[in-house]
Amino acid sequence: MAEKQKEDATTENVVWHATSVNRDARIRVLGQKSAVLWFTGLSGSGKSTIANALELRLNETGKLSYLLDGDNVRLGLSSDLGFSETDRKENNRRVAHVAKLLWDANVLTLVSFISPFRHEREVSRNLIGPDFLEIFVDTPMDVCESRDPKGLYVKARKGEIAQFTGISSPYEAPENPEITLHSDKESVRESVDRIMGLLAARGYL
Ligand code: ADX
Repeated sequence: MAEKQKEDATTENVVWHATSVNRDARIRVLGQKSAVLWFTGLSGSGKSTIANALELRLNETGKLSYLLDGDNVRLGLSSDLGFSETDRKENNRRVAHVAKLLWDANVLTLVSFISPFRHEREVSRNLIGPDFLEIFVDTPMDVCESRDPKGLYVKARKGEIAQFTGISSPYEAPENPEITLHSDKESVRESVDRIMGLLAARGYL
């Protein structure tokens, strides 16, 4: 039985099926080119706030977008996962594949979750290719902790939440992100302007 299940879980007998309508065909219909904007940073760093404001700007510009927000993904697709290293890696893997599907559908895709592991983010970059743009929301830990929008840092300090990122679980900062944002020194509007500038320079707008 165990062997049978193991067999079922492999892709050994599965073959990629090419579809007649490909990404280029969708680009012609939609008149826009997709990218994956991958926001990474500590809890409370401002990822979701900035991603949300960026998506609003994109929408006003007439671009089709979709925001994969970490908390929302964990309420659905990843509701079976916790915060162990293994589960966070699996969460990253799922988000990367969903982002790739949205990218392939030609949607400007925003991804906003802690994604604490450098290796997993690199795997995501390799999966998506040159349209992967890593955005590091580099807010110092003490600022995130003083914001504590959900009261989670207080709980983590009291030991009520295990494996909390930055306290009892690691965060590996990106080494070469396309953009680094400083939400403690620049406004949300300034951050959005900088990302829009990058998107324009790379031909996505
Ligand atoms: S990730 O590590 O897998 O990328 P993700 O961004 O999806 O994390 O989820 C993080 C959110 O879950 C945080 O913003 C916070 O609201 C909540 N959370 C609950 N427990 C933890 C924990 N142990 N570490 C970090 N965030 C947690």
